[in-house]
Amino acid sequence: MTLRAKLASPTMVRLRDARDRDSSLHEESSMLGYSKDIRPLFRSTDVDAMKPRGLDLGSYTEVRGSADEILSRLQDGSMPCDAPWQQAAIETFKQWITDGKLP
Ligand code: HEM
Repeated sequence: MTLRAKLASPTMVRLRDARDRDSSLHEESSMLGYSKDIRPLFRSTDVDAMKPRGLDLGSYTEVRGSADEILSRLQDGSMPCDAPWQQAAIETFKQWITDGKLP
């Protein structure tokens, strides 16, 4: 069989499709999401403190809308006021923004 015929064989096509599907699945699952990666970083005291001040950290749409401002407060260490975040948690928040602020 020629190489061209081999590449076009149904087996090769199936293999290629499976590989493409796997790599796109991998890409999706490594992206950060608000529910699984960001929401758990906020303590209930954070949510309770910020809600009356007009920022509901338990709300995906509100955190998405204020993401840049939240990031700069996390980075300058002014929020949360009692215990600044570890660098790794700040990097996670930053990566979530880079990934497109997914739910
Ligand atoms: C847009 C970003 C934010 C703004 C403008 C903001 C603003 C404020 C202000 C004005 C206060 C009251 C005065 C003070 O303690 O400085 C406060 C308190 C607080 N904030 Fe934020 N905040 C932001 C984000 C956050 C985030 C991301 C967290 C947690 C991860 C957080 C947690 C807290 C806590 C725990 C308090 C203390 C409340 C208390 O001790 O009574 N805040 N925030």
